[in-house]
Amino acid sequence: PPAENMVMVQDFEDWAEKVLSETAWAYYRSAADEEMTFTENRDALRRYFFRPRILQKNSTEGITETTFMGIPTSVPIFISPAAMAKLGDPLGEVNLTKAAGECGIVQMISANASCGLEEMFEAKREGQSLIYQLYLNKDRSASETLIQKVEKMGAKAIVFTVDVMWQSKRTMDVRAKLPSPAEAAAAAAAPAAASVSHAISGYQDYNLTWSDLAFIRKNTKLPIIVKGVQSVEDVQLCADHGVQGVILSNHGGRQADYSPAPIDILYEVRSLRPELFDKVEIMIDGGIRTGADAVKALALGAKAVGIGRPVLYANGTHGEEGVKRVINIFQEEIASTMRNIGVSKIQDLKPEMVGPAGPWVG
Ligand code: FNR
Repeated sequence: PPAENMVMVQDFEDWAEKVLSETAWAYYRSAADEEMTFTENRDALRRYFFRPRILQKNSTEGITETTFMGIPTSVPIFISPAAMAKLGDPLGEVNLTKAAGECGIVQMISANASCGLEEMFEAKREGQSLIYQLYLNKDRSASETLIQKVEKMGAKAIVFTVDVMWQSKRTMDVRAKLPSPAEAAAAAAAPAAASVSHAISGYQDYNLTWSDLAFIRKNTKLPIIVKGVQSVEDVQLCADHGVQGVILSNHGGRQADYSPAPIDILYEVRSLRPELFDKVEIMIDGGIRTGADAVKALALGAKAVGIGRPVLYANGTHGEEGVKRVINIFQEEIASTMRNIGVSKIQDLKPEMVGPAGPWVG
């Protein structure tokens, strides 16, 4: 079906399962071990319901427009950094850049993108903002060069991903056991049985500490966003270390299985340390599939929410058109949800408009 006929974001996933290569599907869809965190990311979101208000004035235009990290965005969603878009479509991440530009949202570029940085920066529009996601290299001088390069190219911030502290077992990806394109090209004699995750991550340093933040800070003036924060304590520490943003994330359930759902971490921060929302910009990603999901997070204080797999699936089934459609579905659903709970500006979403599902127990 054409992209316009996709009604829900989930429709792209259902279609992707049918048409993607086994390698692509297994790599994109896979999560760690028993996939409990992967499942919980969705389940947890479904345990929060709205407390709508009535008879609030409804404005007509621009109701989803806002800013995060000082960047204007047409709707407070961003493309989470996710590797290997070329497994789904030969044009790869350039499709994401073009779709993000047309729709007016931020793309976070994966350190393991399958397109070159130059290609993406050339594909971007005038005024379009790109953010670069960094994995620290065991060879720190390579990271230093890279950080300075992306700053010079015009990236608006550096996302430092910290939840990959070991190569996890991405169950489906490991089971698929197909050689990645890179391996296939490298040598016919190379052992065939390595997952895509394994093939692309050899340079990454798993020995990270808080002092590595100082290393990044020393090498760039750009705002730093730490991605993969999973506790109130670490949000506080990030604020103490002068970081500008955090993404509450468990890597879409791909790292530590039984990590908590980001929406629950957000709720915990809101309940225990509301003052942190004024010290550091808090974003979340993981399992966001509808506008309602996004609005719940925004109401609890998230400045923006990230989407990972839906973008890769839509790119794999429909290329740039698919990615645009996903963003448009989110935009329409977010606007509609907001109006129907009595809000017509992002800034007017309030924590008291969301609560745990079920009857009030006094
Ligand atoms: C990712 N993610 C990720 N994160 C990151 O910081 N750097 C990366 O290179 C990747 N690569 C990657 C590949 C694939 C196939 C997936 C599915 C995910 C994690 C990503 O940024 C994000 O946190 C999750 O995808 C969010 O969860 P959902 O939206 O996929 O449920």
